[in-house]
Amino acid sequence: MPPNNLKLVEKIIKLKEKRNAIILAHNYQRDEVQEIADFTGDSLELSRTASEIKCDVIVFAGVNFMAESASILNPDKTVLLTEKNAGCPMADMIHVDTPRIERKSFPGFKNPPPFIFPAYYTLRDIQAKYPDAPVVSYVNTTADIKAESFICCTSANIIKVIESLPDEIIISVPDRNLSAWAQKHTKKKIISWDGFCHVHERVTVDDISRARKEHPKALIMAHPECRLDVLEMADCVTSTSGMLRYAKSSSEKEFVVGTEIGLMYRLRKENPDKTFYPLRKDMICPNMKMTTLQSVYRALSENTFVVKVPEYIRIPAQKALDRMLEVS
Ligand code: 13P
Ligand code: SF4
Repeated sequence: MPPNNLKLVEKIIKLKEKRNAIILAHNYQRDEVQEIADFTGDSLELSRTASEIKCDVIVFAGVNFMAESASILNPDKTVLLTEKNAGCPMADMIHVDTPRIERKSFPGFKNPPPFIFPAYYTLRDIQAKYPDAPVVSYVNTTADIKAESFICCTSANIIKVIESLPDEIIISVPDRNLSAWAQKHTKKKIISWDGFCHVHERVTVDDISRARKEHPKALIMAHPECRLDVLEMADCVTSTSGMLRYAKSSSEKEFVVGTEIGLMYRLRKENPDKTFYPLRKDMICPNMKMTTLQSVYRALSENTFVVKVPEYIRIPAQKALDRMLEVS
């Protein structure tokens, strides 16, 4: 680590103790940010940790919806998002009652699967069409969408969450790819929103074919935010922490990693005897990479950027998150 970073790390540790703070980091964060974190995990693990944590301040190295969830679960704690503009474009693709995204702005929109709900509708429009269907919202949504949802889910538990409901028709928002993956694993009818993660959406079946050719001995792991045709060709489809567990427990030595490249840090650190290849080198989420050690230090020293969800949204949103945490 460069000497300047070492000094910064020391300052962060001191401030963290002084403020009784905990740093939570998503698996896609920069290596040095993951290194300084008290806990690094996937969205489900981070939500669970946030619900159990004992501290005064939570510093969230991730994107906005994650810090919002931490705040929803901890109304009495100070929750800080390390970078103000670290958002999730997929979370911003769905709105409760004001459509802000033009249908034409969705790249790759041609021939969507028939169960996909057009993106220029609002959540209220879908609810009006399927009034009895519960809304299952991926945690990659804003707090007001969570507040309108019956239950939340993550990529690690969506199928368990859907199967836990008595209903036969389910509204699933906002990721069309995660919904398609869930549809493949349930007999229930999934009505999906048409959002997607641009980092995972870019993966094609050609990338998988090329990876098989270049690394014939490797197992291919893919995140369920990838397209269904890609997922059907992978050896393992799972969340980021699911990939960590899969690689660790496998007797194989080589793996192709079909998710944001930040995960490579933990995969390599926790499995020094194994080799990991990115499925595509450009699987980089610019929002996840905004946070630096400097931003973590600034968060603690300047109390930036406070994330606080108003009570009228927080209370119903917490119900949806709590229901998810009870199921999984
Ligand atoms: P998980 O870590 O839950 O798999 O989530 C991936 C993701 O895209 C978070 O933004
Ligand atoms: Fe959103 Fe995709 Fe970035 Fe995750 S990786 S924060 S889903 S844009």
